[in-house]
Amino acid sequence: MSTVQVARADGIVTLTLDRPQALNALDPATLAALGDALRAVAADAAARVVVLTGAGEKAFSAGADIAAMGGMAPGDGHAFARLGHAVTAQMEALPVPVIAAVNGLALGGGLELALACDLVVASERAKLGQPEIDLGIIPGFGGTQRLVRRVGLAKARDLVYRGTPIAADEALRIGLVDRVVPPDRVRAEAQALAAELAAKAPLALRAAKRATAAAFEGDPAAGCRYEVEAFALTFATEDRAEGMAAFLAKRPPVWKGR
Ligand code: CAA
Repeated sequence: MSTVQVARADGIVTLTLDRPQALNALDPATLAALGDALRAVAADAAARVVVLTGAGEKAFSAGADIAAMGGMAPGDGHAFARLGHAVTAQMEALPVPVIAAVNGLALGGGLELALACDLVVASERAKLGQPEIDLGIIPGFGGTQRLVRRVGLAKARDLVYRGTPIAADEALRIGLVDRVVPPDRVRAEAQALAAELAAKAPLALRAAKRATAAAFEGDPAAGCRYEVEAFALTFATEDRAEGMAAFLAKRPPVWKGR
């Protein structure tokens, strides 16, 4: 039985971390299963948006599996961090947006998965943090980099140095999550957001993801040059012609994905 469940409907692929008895902790098998699921999404031309969530009501994910890490030698820890990095990089490299539906705790590697998502919808009851310091380690699945980018150096250091999780309203205030909703609305809100994005021009949405990602690659001028190229490429699509024609005709567009 895989610990990552996959469901597909209307271009939305929902991936659910499914180890609720361990608060969806990320052991090597779960990370590998998530990597496999993401590879399948990357090869699926019908996929428009991914939603990542956790099974159960309590946790999105309580982080890397501490039981699995307990017996790891430094070389094993290196391999484990590389696995976590490979999976988070896969999420960022997906051509389609990924929405995290943070239904509860997002700690350590769990928060690091959310940080690799494009948008984060969180439950009012969610708690988010990087408690690794209290295990004598540091974030290992990209947290030191993506958290700094997301909330700035000082706030990231506060979370990483102190290890104290923050509540959802504070996470919203510092820009760590994008929306906060009642617990019973998290999955529905994430699905509604996914449906909204799935209805956009698919090639433009992909170009928008690539181009905004380029803001963090190399110098800002290179990102702007990349944006010009990506913008121009959308002009070669039928959907661009359709989108503009529909606007001018005051009717909804009909996207073909070409
Ligand atoms: N790894 C493995 N098992 C975990 C886990 C984790 N990260 N978090 C929780 N569990 C397990 C518990 O061991 C427990 O299992 P048993 O029922 O078999 O005892 C079960 O999930 C339920 O957890 P608790 O009984 O502890 O639940 P609680 O409500 O009392 O506490 C909690 C919840 C405060 C989140 C507590 O579970 C906790 O502190 N978990 C660890 C959080 C953490 O430190 N995460 C960071 C991991 S390191 C990391 O992620 C490194 C990295 O960046 C790569």
